[in-house]
Amino acid sequence: DTRDPTSLRTPIVAVLGHVDHGKTSLLDKIRGSAVIEGEAGAITQHIGATAVPLDIISTIAGDLVDPDDFDLPGLLFIDTPGHHSFTTLRSRGGALADIAILVVDVNDGFQPQTLEALDILKRSQTPFIVAANKIDTVPGWNENEDSPINDTYESQSDRVRERLDESLYEIIGNLSDEGFSADLYWRVQNFQRNVGVVPVSAMTGEGVPDLLTVMMGLSQRYMKEEMEIDVAGPGVGTVLEVKEEKGFGTTIDTVLYDGTIRADDQIVVGGMNEPIVTDVRALLQPRPLAEIRTESRFEKVDEVSAASGIKIAAPELADAMAGAPVRVVRDRDIDEVIDEVQAELADIAVDTAEEGVVVKADTLGSLEAMADALDEAEVPIVRAEVGDVAPRDVSVASTAEDGKQKAILGFNVDVLDDAEQRAEIEDVTIFTDEVIYQLIEEYEEYVEGIEQ
Ligand code: GTP
Ligand code: MG
Repeated sequence: DTRDPTSLRTPIVAVLGHVDHGKTSLLDKIRGSAVIEGEAGAITQHIGATAVPLDIISTIAGDLVDPDDFDLPGLLFIDTPGHHSFTTLRSRGGALADIAILVVDVNDGFQPQTLEALDILKRSQTPFIVAANKIDTVPGWNENEDSPINDTYESQSDRVRERLDESLYEIIGNLSDEGFSADLYWRVQNFQRNVGVVPVSAMTGEGVPDLLTVMMGLSQRYMKEEMEIDVAGPGVGTVLEVKEEKGFGTTIDTVLYDGTIRADDQIVVGGMNEPIVTDVRALLQPRPLAEIRTESRFEKVDEVSAASGIKIAAPELADAMAGAPVRVVRDRDIDEVIDEVQAELADIAVDTAEEGVVVKADTLGSLEAMADALDEAEVPIVRAEVGDVAPRDVSVASTAEDGKQKAILGFNVDVLDDAEQRAEIEDVTIFTDEVIYQLIEEYEEYVEGIEQ
């Protein structure tokens, strides 16, 4: 093997935003444009992610991007459903995503999950831009398929331009209320200091060339050093989701952000109780659309390198947690790898008190975000775990002496039937929500009710 073992990896881009604001459509549009360009095969669909190589980006961006100006291989976009907390997107000591696109519907403006996304971008100090989406819905809009924003803007009537400007300035104002200095992207000189707002339509593709150009520029300018990895080294990643898969048992959908994972590797994964040491049984990628009619939705691959999304099938994964680290052992000392995984888990562990409420969340990252928010609200936690609300959580909550603490706060989780019944009998109140601050507000209202 004569390859240079060190090269630049693909930056990881998280696509975030409120439900229905157009995250998936935006990625579909980028994929669709590649199909039109006759380059369908060049964009690879990963588990939970889409990889877009540089040459495709420059084709879509047209005159705006000259591939010679860039040496990054492309961008890996991670789509996060609005109802699902993207706090899972964490990595050793920070955010998993190198950069982010916050999608905001120009008509709908800022919504609860927009604010939540901003809060987490702020905490993790992730550079991001705002895609002000659905500009084609401005009444009277004159569509210019796939055109750069400047061209299509010029072709609109004064009235339409005014309407769009109003919506854009409202978004800029909202960002400023949240402590971000923002402006239309072509006015931004320093993207580290100011948030650029890019008007786009995921439907017509207008502004998509601009969006891709800004993303490439951002990653090239500010991320380059962090992108230098030992591609051939043992892989490191984060579990996005733990899923049962017919024929494979429990699998982990993982984003690999460093090194390589091979189908015969031994791995260490963060588990509920302790690190799980196991051997990879299969590495799975979605089949290309053209082959979807085969009996399996997946295709086995021998190895993948960062950055990529991959489904890992292996024994003993039942206790794996979303948001937990995954590390390849290969020729490293296994105890050292276990220690690293343990240290990362300890890093996210929530401080619990003798007395307090029970907290359940869908992922380690969201559990951490819940704990932070409850700490700010001065609500103590007696137990914090990843998973659905179960009868044993009710047992723990029922032992609280203070009525205010006979409560379970579940973020993005289900309540198991027997837990619900038990809670009624034991007089424990269960709160669930998909937005952290709303969940805490509900709990605070309940506390006020008790105190009156
Ligand atoms: P979740 O994954 O549920 O959070 O939603 P999302 O953000 O992925 O939104 P999605 O892409 O599914 O779009 C929601 C709806 O908005 C769909 O009906 C889309 O067709 C529509 N939509 C998205 N982008 C645009 C746009 O630019 N213009 C118009 N007119 N409609 C759009
Ligand atoms: Mg979606």
